[in-house]
Amino acid sequence: MPTDEITQKVTARYAKAASTGEQMCCPTTYDMGHLKTFIPEEVLKISYGCGAPAGLKTVQTGETVLDIGSGGGIDCFEASRLVGPTGHVIGIDITDTMLEIARKNAAVVAANLGYPASNVEFRKGLADAMPVQDRTIDLIISNCVINLAPDKRKVFQEMYRVAKPGGRFTISDIVSDQIVPQYLVHDTQKWGDCLSGALTLTDYMNDMTAAGFLGVHLVKFSPWRAIDGIHFFSVTLTGYKLPPAPTASSVRYATLRGPFNRLVDERGTTYQRGIPQPIKSEDELLLSTPPFAEHFLLTTEPIELDSADPRWSAVFPADAPCTWQGHYALLAGPFLEAADDDHHVYRRGEPVEICSKTVAVLETGGYQPHFVILNRAGDHVSGEAVTCSPNGACC
Ligand SMILES: C[S@@+](CC[C@H](N)C(=O)[O-])C[C@H]1O[C@@H](n2cnc3c(N)ncnc32)[C@H](O)[C@@H]1O
Repeated sequence: MPTDEITQKVTARYAKAASTGEQMCCPTTYDMGHLKTFIPEEVLKISYGCGAPAGLKTVQTGETVLDIGSGGGIDCFEASRLVGPTGHVIGIDITDTMLEIARKNAAVVAANLGYPASNVEFRKGLADAMPVQDRTIDLIISNCVINLAPDKRKVFQEMYRVAKPGGRFTISDIVSDQIVPQYLVHDTQKWGDCLSGALTLTDYMNDMTAAGFLGVHLVKFSPWRAIDGIHFFSVTLTGYKLPPAPTASSVRYATLRGPFNRLVDERGTTYQRGIPQPIKSEDELLLSTPPFAEHFLLTTEPIELDSADPRWSAVFPADAPCTWQGHYALLAGPFLEAADDDHHVYRRGEPVEICSKTVAVLETGGYQPHFVILNRAGDHVSGEAVTCSPNGACC
């Protein structure tokens, strides 16, 4: 479908939804009881998101927040409450009916929050050509919109353009576990349902990194639908636009502590556990940010670690037979590649089949925040115990 046709059909679809209030898309994790205390029902009933990006408590007082594809305004209004009267919220949407409802309710929400005037404005515009000035936004949010845009790379470039240095994003969207085939891409109904336009998780995160964001990683993941063997997921992702590097820092080396045996970051730098790796000051900024910080020792002089050092960490699989029950591990980032102590190499966003012993390893503290464990078995799997060595180790 040509780009203009996609936009025109998506707009018609959401204009109709806004005027009928029909149910669409996916379960979210909103606390509706709380939102109802200050957001009118007219807005809540046309909430078509697939996550709750403004409800993640990442929003801070006084910040400027941008919501891409703001719809009836649900996330803008929650962000309005979180930034407080000194903060500012901008919602962008392409559908007039959505904008009318959102604008009409901005004053009502401000009054309910006890603000002297609304701190939210709604602008008409496309996600890939946003009417927003360069480097003015602290936090970009978006809820189930970018999959609807014909050119996602352009949207990510726009996000990077408008983010302040040191700014960040928290985005909920639909992604798939494999490239969506052409017969679904050209299905208008499924495009409007937030399915056909989905990128794979790997492409989504890599395109964000290519646009300039770093530390791109998953913070939430839930299965949504499967069509013809293609699995669609609702995800919430976050990442940063780095601020200028500090000039006075004395940090020169990063030593990986574990439990990963090896990691490759988004700039392509490889870290081997225990071996000091020379770094630049921009790397220091990133490696001292969650979720990197706990894995690295940042030092002025090179420091080697060995397995006797209490700062070294490792998690080995149990020396016992395993079962295969349909589990897959998906590296949630921000690392591009990661290796464990059992010969598995994981690449960001790509599912790797794992046995029960590896499930247990990846569910331990140091690994757990970096993985999503899926089960792709269609039916219940009995999972007989398997062993390929005399001492009972796994195959
Ligand atoms: C699934 S709804 C989500 C609305 C809102 N974020 C929410 O959570 O309720 C998608 C919204 O994105 C808007 N939209 C779709 N494509 C867009 C684009 N390329 N640029 C800007 N807005 C777009 C639609 O008009 C619609 O309001």
